[in-house]
Amino acid sequence: MRGLVLLSVATSVLGQTPGDTFYPPTLNDTSYISNSSIGTYGGIYEAPTEGPTGGSPYGTYDYCSMPHPRSEEYELPEALINGSTKGKLVYLEYLQRHQRRTPYNILPGGENQAYHCDDVRPYLYAGPSSTSGIQPITMYAQTYQDPTNPFTPNVNGTCQYPQITIGGVQDGYQHGKDLWGVYGKKLGLIPENPNSRVWFRSSESALTQASAGAVLRGLWPDYKGALPLHQMASSVDTVNEGYSCPAVSSTLSNLQSTTQWKEHLAVTEELRSKLGAMLGATESSWQNTFDHFSDNFQGRLCNGYDLPCSLSNSSACVTMQMAEEAFRAGDWEWNYYWRTNPDVVKYIQVVEGLFIGEIISRLQAVLDGESSLDYSHVFVHDGDIGPILGALGIETLRWPAMASNIAFEVWETKDEKDGNSFYARVLYSGHPIRSIHGLLDWFPLSGLIDIMRPYVPEDIISLCG
Ligand SMILES: *[C@@H]1O[C@H](CO)[C@@H](O)[C@H](O)[C@H]1NC(C)=O
Ligand SMILES: *[C@@H]1O[C@H](CO)[C@@H](O)[C@H](O)[C@H]1NC(C)=O
Ligand SMILES: *[C@@H]1O[C@H](CO)[C@@H](O)[C@H](O)[C@H]1NC(C)=O
Ligand SMILES: *[C@@H]1O[C@H](CO)[C@@H](O)[C@H](O)[C@H]1NC(C)=O
Ligand SMILES: *[C@@H]1O[C@H](CO)[C@@H](O)[C@H](O)[C@H]1NC(C)=O
Repeated sequence: MRGLVLLSVATSVLGQTPGDTFYPPTLNDTSYISNSSIGTYGGIYEAPTEGPTGGSPYGTYDYCSMPHPRSEEYELPEALINGSTKGKLVYLEYLQRHQRRTPYNILPGGENQAYHCDDVRPYLYAGPSSTSGIQPITMYAQTYQDPTNPFTPNVNGTCQYPQITIGGVQDGYQHGKDLWGVYGKKLGLIPENPNSRVWFRSSESALTQASAGAVLRGLWPDYKGALPLHQMASSVDTVNEGYSCPAVSSTLSNLQSTTQWKEHLAVTEELRSKLGAMLGATESSWQNTFDHFSDNFQGRLCNGYDLPCSLSNSSACVTMQMAEEAFRAGDWEWNYYWRTNPDVVKYIQVVEGLFIGEIISRLQAVLDGESSLDYSHVFVHDGDIGPILGALGIETLRWPAMASNIAFEVWETKDEKDGNSFYARVLYSGHPIRSIHGLLDWFPLSGLIDIMRPYVPEDIISLCG
């Protein structure tokens, strides 16, 4: 793959540990966007069509497949290693973004390459809840092009946009196998077969559902039955912006009218106009944020495709330098949305507060000795992972990439030091989170609840307006 060698050289020049690539110290400044010598700040943005992939060295910020807890790197909390206390993992709340996929955003001027998805089968069928009833044929979606259809989708091939790709399925399976290695085999929390103390949920999106099937197969390779993937009615879903809340868009438009926001548009003026002209992407949805350009480039680079070229001039192509600037601008935006914008508390409350409240309830049940679960795994989106990391006070936030994950571990100790027997640790993509509250590596569970509580709105209905 083009570029991989260059990227790893950049990593060693900066002298970073893999974990450092998550925390560019100047991310909150627009010079982070315009300074081209920063490159990707050691991050990885390329993967072949087939997975599983994982950044090298493992643990590096990797847009295509974020690291996750693996037995090769996993370390027990320091307090247990040094023997100052003895403890047992009693609860895991695991959240993850879906695995890699085709883009949401197809270039308005058309894509110069076709996307192929014949190597993956998105299953879709329904049957009765009783296994003794009729069982359906296991149908899958096969996307095709009909030349008699006068409307053209601006892209050729056999994919939907977005849809999980074969690399995403393979990454998911590996993700599940690795979680088993840590939380099943090593720590004995995840059972050998799914039981009533495990619980799964996804958004209404086919992406998160497809990830669940692949990841859980990695956990339980020989399990024969079906499993419930819990979902709320999509009109009121507390993840993926399901419920309707006018304060979400009004807060967003406030925070997009600040001088900081305008400054980031000013420093990217030249890039946006070049990309707009080259790719036919001059409309405001492509020009007002870096969401669409970044998504389009990431979808290509993470699935074995090249960066796009103009449809009218095949030698006018997006360069890696242009893509890197778009990625730095995207990272700046995520840090701004969930860490530094002046309305950040309200923005997290309206977008994610109810779901944060649900996580707190499950942690509180563990604290009260009343939990009916040992392991909850929720499959969500970047737009859910971002605000939760913001609520946890992550020092800097790059775009929560494909399969980025948060592991809330609860440990029970016997010594009841200071009256606390439950301790928490929070890993982001395998590393204890570097937070404004300190390293989230070992602290009373009640303290974790206190950190998140301010983001749970008292009255969401009136806050939404
Ligand atoms: C960026 O973050 C650093 C470190 O937290 C802080 O000292 C600085 O004031 C921040 N700059 C801006 C522009 O917010
Ligand atoms: C640009 O980034 C490089 C590498 O991080 C740094 O050494 C340099 O000081 C930065 N330049 C400016 C003008 O911020
Ligand atoms: C062990 O680690 C914990 C947590 O970092 C620390 O509070 C404690 O002082 C350490 N104890 C020893 C004996 O090093
Ligand atoms: C799709 O393929 C057709 C037939 O090969 C070609 O004429 C058309 O230009 C392609 N469209 C795009 C957007 O690449
Ligand atoms: C096509 O793009 C190349 C590279 O940007 C440029 O040098 C050339 O002038 C363009 N050709 C036309 C006909 O616009």
